[in-house]
Amino acid sequence: MEKQQLALIIPAAGSGERLGGDVPKPYLKIAGKTILELSLLKFKQVPGLGEVIVSTSKNFMAQTEVLLNKIFPELKTYVVEGGKERQDSIRNALNKISGKTGLVAVHDAVRPFVAVVDIEKCVDEAARWGGAVLATRAKDTIKVSGPDLEIVQTPNRKNLWQAQTPQIFWAALIREAYDNAEKYNIYGSDDSSLVEQVGGKVVLVEGSDKNFKITYPLDLKIAEYLAKSGEL
Ligand code: C5P
Repeated sequence: MEKQQLALIIPAAGSGERLGGDVPKPYLKIAGKTILELSLLKFKQVPGLGEVIVSTSKNFMAQTEVLLNKIFPELKTYVVEGGKERQDSIRNALNKISGKTGLVAVHDAVRPFVAVVDIEKCVDEAARWGGAVLATRAKDTIKVSGPDLEIVQTPNRKNLWQAQTPQIFWAALIREAYDNAEKYNIYGSDDSSLVEQVGGKVVLVEGSDKNFKITYPLDLKIAEYLAKSGEL
């Protein structure tokens, strides 16, 4: 089966509040490169990549354009302005995708340790089913809380997974999901939840804890350690 053209959307418009610095997380450097560049370099190795769209804040648009031209001189690339929520940032990027694209991958700028083989597994499963999400099995027991922090439910851990990115979908399906979310003003904490709302089939692909999201100061320390140990 011939590979479908893949478009990559990278939301990179977060403020970096939780890391406590002025520079947004994707623009912090590890091993001499920005976290955004490290994430983009992983996807450069994925067959079938046809276009790349990065959603970022106004102040970082020019530097992101330079970066995209450097990494992907042969591809169509765009930089768009991000929105208030991650979902708004992705919506703006989705509007740029060309009709030739069969699959759309969304990957957080701040997950530079994703393994290329895991991205490829996710592409294959998404092409087959409609959607695929990299995920890891829940390590801890997860509790559901009520308004007074009382535990109201303890779901069976065997069925619980932590969703990561990339999350990859048929282009028509993610477009439908985002149109539906806009129409009914639905906000989800990931892309899959929006696709699930329109009845799309999304499967889990078991990935690795190394594909963690650099969110808090401790994550940055771990990222620096992993980079020094040759994990990039
Ligand atoms: O804040 P969160 O951990 O969900 O961020 C995940 C990714 O989404 C990050 O790469 C961040 O830059 C991006 N994001 C965005 N627009 C927002 C919020 C987050 O592009 N409004």
